Amino acid sequence: MSVSMKLLCVTLSLLLTANFTCGVTVQQSPVMSVCREGDVSVTLQCYHDDSSYYYMFWYRQRDNNNMEMLTYSPGQDVWEIEPPFEKTKYTMSRPKLTNSSLEINNVEVGDGAVYYCASSRRGCCENTVTSTQPAFFGNGTKLTVLDPNIDVKEPTVKVLPPSTKECEARNKKKKKTLVCVATEFYPDHVTVFWQFNGGAITDGVGTDNKALRDKDGIFYSITSRLRVPAKDWNKPSNKFTCIVEFFNGTVSKNETDHINGEEGPGGDGGMTAEYYVNSTLIAKLAYSVFIAKSTFYGLVVMVLIWKLQLSSDKQM
Ligand SMILES: *[C@@H]1O[C@H](CO)[C@@H](O)[C@H](O)[C@H]1NC(C)=O
Ligand SMILES: *[C@@H]1O[C@H](CO)[C@@H](O)[C@H](O)[C@H]1NC(C)=O
Ligand SMILES: *[C@@H]1O[C@H](CO)[C@@H](O)[C@H](O)[C@H]1NC(C)=O
Ligand SMILES: *[C@@H]1O[C@H](CO)[C@@H](O)[C@H](O)[C@H]1NC(C)=O
Ligand SMILES: *[C@@H]1O[C@H](CO)[C@@H](O)[C@H](O)[C@H]1NC(C)=O
Repeated sequence: MSVSMKLLCVTLSLLLTANFTCGVTVQQSPVMSVCREGDVSVTLQCYHDDSSYYYMFWYRQRDNNNMEMLTYSPGQDVWEIEPPFEKTKYTMSRPKLTNSSLEINNVEVGDGAVYYCASSRRGCCENTVTSTQPAFFGNGTKLTVLDPNIDVKEPTVKVLPPSTKECEARNKKKKKTLVCVATEFYPDHVTVFWQFNGGAITDGVGTDNKALRDKDGIFYSITSRLRVPAKDWNKPSNKFTCIVEFFNGTVSKNETDHINGEEGPGGDGGMTAEYYVNSTLIAKLAYSVFIAKSTFYGLVVMVLIWKLQLSSDKQM
């Protein structure tokens, strides 16, 4: 809802005047946070830039479930908890109209979620059809609570070539799909990037929305696909690199793997004109031989029949 509202707002502001500003910018920090079960507390910060937005809210989203409102504040230094959540677990603060923080106490594995801060000119429940006031959301803080029974583990990264099916001759003109697989990591703080000959690329890249837990329920895996034109793949000097940025709780590190293109039939560039001409020539030649053979057999059969008719005529 907020996204479409924002879009509408952006569209309106573009339509009206370039100077017209719409809504507020809500900034959250940190972008991601890792803590351990049993930590006393973790605090998330939020700041927005328009003090006419009296209301501030904190939400959490676990996995891909719905957003759940945790706390809200109708003004400076006042806040309320949203049942069924409890004040012993969450402490909101609102020292200024533009600032708010959320403290999560007695950190547990189940607190792992994305936490969103929002601000609005009205409270949630005052909204009516005639006077809707959109809430503006920050980009969220991804909080991971490390399971004490699982050790932090960096991903193993591997780039796989296009499948053999894609390499079959009749698919020569199509695009090729390279797959990057990052496996056996914990926690699930990863971002996947691709490079072509050392330069960043985003066109043709498709990455899983999020890392998924392996069957063992311990480590995570994620895959990303890169679609490249066959002519780029069929050049051995081309280098395709997959970079997986992993946050281990204190620092981010890049794990990479790369693969080089492979010579296609007819060399550089896959199905070249020369290769095409050669193969059509061969086809034409084969067809001519086939026609000639058929004609020859036809003649032989005709001669035989003619001879048979002659002999039967003689007998009559
Ligand atoms: C939120 O994310 C978007 C898209 O990644 C980015 O353009 C924007 O600057 C971010 N906003 C803030 C407040 O960090
Ligand atoms: C409010 O947030 C801004 C930006 O993060 C920060 O510079 C400022 O110190 C904060 N003020 C209070 C009272 O927390
Ligand atoms: C993350 O990596 C850094 C550098 O390799 C290391 O010092 C730190 O202990 C690691 N953190 C965890 C939680 O493993
Ligand atoms: C990892 O690689 C990406 C893409 O090249 C880059 O933006 C990022 O800064 C790198 N991170 C680290 C920790 O080196
Ligand atoms: C095409 O045929 C010529 C002569 O038969 C041969 O020398 C050449 O290597 C062939 N080219 C390809 C791409 O097969």
